[in-house]
Amino acid sequence: MIYLKSIARLILGDLLYQDHIDSLSLVQAIGGSGGLRLGGEFLAMAACRTIYIPNPSWPNHQAIFKQSGLEVENYPYYDIENRKLAFINMITYLSQIPEGSIVLLHVNCHNPSGADLTKEQWEILAQLCRERKLVPFFDAAYLGFDETVEEDAFPIRLFMEKKIEFLLSISFSKNLSLYAERVGAFFLFSHPTCSKSIFSQCRILVRRNYSNPPMHGAKIVSKILQSPRLKQLWDEELLQMRQRIFEMKSKFIAALSSEGSKKDYSYLLEKKGLFFFSGLSVEQVDLLKKEDGIYITSDGRINIAGLNRKSLFVVARAIVRVGG
Ligand SMILES: Cc1ncc(COP(=O)(O)O)c(C=O)c1O
Repeated sequence: MIYLKSIARLILGDLLYQDHIDSLSLVQAIGGSGGLRLGGEFLAMAACRTIYIPNPSWPNHQAIFKQSGLEVENYPYYDIENRKLAFINMITYLSQIPEGSIVLLHVNCHNPSGADLTKEQWEILAQLCRERKLVPFFDAAYLGFDETVEEDAFPIRLFMEKKIEFLLSISFSKNLSLYAERVGAFFLFSHPTCSKSIFSQCRILVRRNYSNPPMHGAKIVSKILQSPRLKQLWDEELLQMRQRIFEMKSKFIAALSSEGSKKDYSYLLEKKGLFFFSGLSVEQVDLLKKEDGIYITSDGRINIAGLNRKSLFVVARAIVRVGG
């Protein structure tokens, strides 16, 4: 329980946590994927039929929610042609789906596009959710990759302040480099009169799925969050990570240009997080794999953190050769 309390305090801040402790159901999950799966199963058990996910999204969202027994629909999110968030289309679409629908939202560093909502846009979305009783399912897999963890948690805090019920899956796979330990959590913020029954149902789901979560990674997280010195070290390391990602992104864009690319990739500099959503086609991705042994996801997404000062030139050269 120390683990869950520490991460709830981290993500919500002391005040919101104290004020809403009775409205929260908190369970440890097997990484962020496990949190999404638990949420999916909870929704299916509660007779929800459909979840709306952004287009595009992390491909596993569709798979996880289908496997949980939900139908999956896509809402417009990213305008590939104009390389920006399709906010108006998103809001228009979400205004027309049935009241009470479940909507998956990437908290920050949207995977794969890196296009995030501004604070003002989150306010507009919160208003819409309140009016149409839409229930967000937040996916927080990259807290600390745009700004600090606390700042990146802005949308979650905003919806809680506005008392909009939500589900939340949290991952520490990337921001604490605990991928192999499978450290995550699932939170459900509800009306306080429901939270006891919700918590009991979540525990039943956990018991039937994996009985107990692993302990080691959760102990690491708890120790870091309970020690001001370790927490500060973590914050500093996250800052270094953000700086490195930005530096690699700038260098990669410069390398693409110096290798002769005719395309302007500078718009990717303002996108958030790990990914460089290159716009390469499936055919180009395939050529990179066959001819250069360079593997990226079929939607053209490149993990910038996986490059170094040397390899970025090799990858840039190959991309230009396939027409990128
Ligand atoms: C958007 C998103 N959500 C969830 C996850 C899953 O996180 P985890 O590795 O902790 O299962 C990922 C991992 O790639 C992701 O990109």
